[in-house]
Amino acid sequence: METADFIDASLDGRMRALEALLGRIAAEHGPSALASSLSIEDMVLTDAILRRRERGLGKEGNIEIFTLDTGRLHGDTLAVIEAVRRHYGERHGEPIVVYKPQPQAVAQYVSFHGRDGFFESVELRRRCCDIRKVEPLRRALAGKGSWITGLRREQSVTRTELGIEGFDAQHGIPKFNPLADWSENEVWAYVRAWRVPYNALYEQGYRSIGCAPCTLPVVAGEDLRAGRWWWEQAESRECGLHLAPDGSLRRTKAAA
Ligand code: ADX
Repeated sequence: METADFIDASLDGRMRALEALLGRIAAEHGPSALASSLSIEDMVLTDAILRRRERGLGKEGNIEIFTLDTGRLHGDTLAVIEAVRRHYGERHGEPIVVYKPQPQAVAQYVSFHGRDGFFESVELRRRCCDIRKVEPLRRALAGKGSWITGLRREQSVTRTELGIEGFDAQHGIPKFNPLADWSENEVWAYVRAWRVPYNALYEQGYRSIGCAPCTLPVVAGEDLRAGRWWWEQAESRECGLHLAPDGSLRRTKAAA
């Protein structure tokens, strides 16, 4: 692992707080896991978790990292898994565990609605997300004491009140969003300082990346999630991984 370039006091403070939080999660809410979409935010968390593992600070319990491979991700996104392997090595086992959807559920959806049936309605789009992300997430979180995400408040109108720590009623475990109050610039400052590998799509105007058919690059001035489910209204642009306890898409401080 490499050493960092210059780190200013503000980023240093952010990093210390992040390390302390990860330590507390591992010690008090293990076994825990980071759900990584291989986004820039999740790469910051991946770097912090794998550095911690490398320093042997994971004795309170390792934090697993998993990704949900929906079967519709860009090649550039999948390439990040290999880049992580190369950058951090496999001394502590496979760095990122991959979960996939149930093949028979995918086959059924495709035969009824077509591979791209999600363009027809929000309901069919949600059903696709359910099969490809929400059900595999349930399997990934089985037996876990908590989970960690890369959600940030700034990302969307549905995330403005997100807390760093909350309770996920759907899965019945605490949910941590360590970067909830980080800005996009701070995320990039971390990535640059530590030369963290990241998805090449960010160089092509993408700022939030999901499945290939459901993601477009955004232009300057647009909302950073404007390219996600780009044919829908901003208020419905969530996949169902992060619902509030009442099943709504909007989160409050108490319900991260
Ligand atoms: S989402 O609506 O697709 O969930 P976004 O792409 O902004 O939104 O991701 C927010 C967080 O959800 C990520 O930082 C990550 O923690 C989790 N997440 C989203 N997609 C995946 C995925 N394919 N695999 C694992 N975690 C994911």
